[in-house]
Amino acid sequence: MDEKPVRTKLQSIGQGSVLRFFAELDPAGQKRLMRQIDALDLDHIAHLVDSQVKQKPALDLPKEINPVKAYPHKPGAEHRELYQQAEQRGLELLRQGKVGAFLVAGGQGTRLGYDGPKGEYPVTPIQNKPLFQVFAEQLAAWSREVGRVIPWYIMTSDINDGPTRAFFHKHGHFGYDPAAIFIFEQGMMPAFSLDGQMLLAEKSSLALSPDGHGGSLRALARGGALADMRRRGIEHLSYFQVDNPLVHCIDPLFLGLHDLTGSEMSSKTIPKADALEKVGNFVIADGVLQVIEYSDLPESLAKQTNADGSLRFNAGSIAIHALKVSFIERLNEGGRLQLPWHRAEKKVPFVDGDGRLVKPDKPNAIKLEQFVFDAILLAKSPMVYTTDRAEEFSPVKNAQGNDSPLTSRQDQIRRARRWLETGGTKVDEGAIVEISPLFALNAGQLRDRSLPKEIKAGESVYLE
Ligand code: UTP
Repeated sequence: MDEKPVRTKLQSIGQGSVLRFFAELDPAGQKRLMRQIDALDLDHIAHLVDSQVKQKPALDLPKEINPVKAYPHKPGAEHRELYQQAEQRGLELLRQGKVGAFLVAGGQGTRLGYDGPKGEYPVTPIQNKPLFQVFAEQLAAWSREVGRVIPWYIMTSDINDGPTRAFFHKHGHFGYDPAAIFIFEQGMMPAFSLDGQMLLAEKSSLALSPDGHGGSLRALARGGALADMRRRGIEHLSYFQVDNPLVHCIDPLFLGLHDLTGSEMSSKTIPKADALEKVGNFVIADGVLQVIEYSDLPESLAKQTNADGSLRFNAGSIAIHALKVSFIERLNEGGRLQLPWHRAEKKVPFVDGDGRLVKPDKPNAIKLEQFVFDAILLAKSPMVYTTDRAEEFSPVKNAQGNDSPLTSRQDQIRRARRWLETGGTKVDEGAIVEISPLFALNAGQLRDRSLPKEIKAGESVYLE
């Protein structure tokens, strides 16, 4: 890449200063910086700096916010037939090879503080399986169940792509067919000073971070994954995050409901733990289904209750979705992903005008990210289905406290115990149990296995 036109372009959008140390860099450093700049959509960045960085865009709260009507977890009489059909439909889609699994794992995992891709983190109660293995085994079990390997798309980012690939390689892809695994990187976004200049982390590098899980919908197009799906005949993606070992990576009922209702993007919800729980809220805002972040939902609304005392806004978002491939293609039409950007003020170390590294002690920078749930607003017939927290949600977000490895481990044990009790095993309080996805994917499957009669307190039992 030639420096001169890049410099001219950068100067034309007021960002020429990122090349201020260019002449001092060795060829490798020059190449690195040029490659980073080349990956950016500079015209769009100029627009974002004016509209989102130099000023805080006004938050347009919708005029009317109403609760969403989600499909219930267990069907009542009016839904029974639909749920039966949906489960069959989901299985049929899987048998026909029309479903791909999609894991987003490009995040920084700052709160957990683990030095490496979060998917490497050991989470299960007895075997200490890493998150990646938990998902690989689920997908292998489903592949066996439906008689064909489910293609698995994994999004990484520049900060963890190499280590993620190496980890899969080192562990023989956890027994999964490597030809069915497609790893690709998401885009990166520079951090900006408060007056709109792109920051340098080093003289030869912008201060970049992943462009948000919403960036996954662009990366699927740019990284060749959508083209791969077209080749394989995949029509739907089952989307999940790297941090939740309880997730059902594949759920035929959910996939079937998504397809039968003609939804372009579907979501799972759980009843919130309390009015102010820090999860997004599914709502109907000015007539349109969408997620409003906990920080943007007025507290007076969040605390409203129904006549029976239950929360009026009780549909929490847990980042499990089903998406139509054709919908993702449409979102990328015209070459630019049609999702808004969200602005956050952060502390970002940077190289100052004299070439010194500055570590700020208060927010000095603006980061921009896209969120995947914003796509729901653009989807036709979006569908929301209620799942059970104890069955499907216990993320590993923080090193300690809530949503930590410890709480997630306890929730995994609790779920395993519940499944076993449904299967007729008596499990004492204090027993530790872990069920391999290859042994059973859910309580229903477990019931058909040969199970111990009793597991006593103090025992550790791994079923595989
Ligand atoms: P989080 O919002 O929990 O962010 O990501 P994070 O970066 O992993 O962790 P913190 O906030 O720094 O502690 C939710 C999911 O979205 C993915 C993450 O990998 C995780 O699966 N994600 C997030 C991406 O893939 N890319 C991103 O840019 C951001």
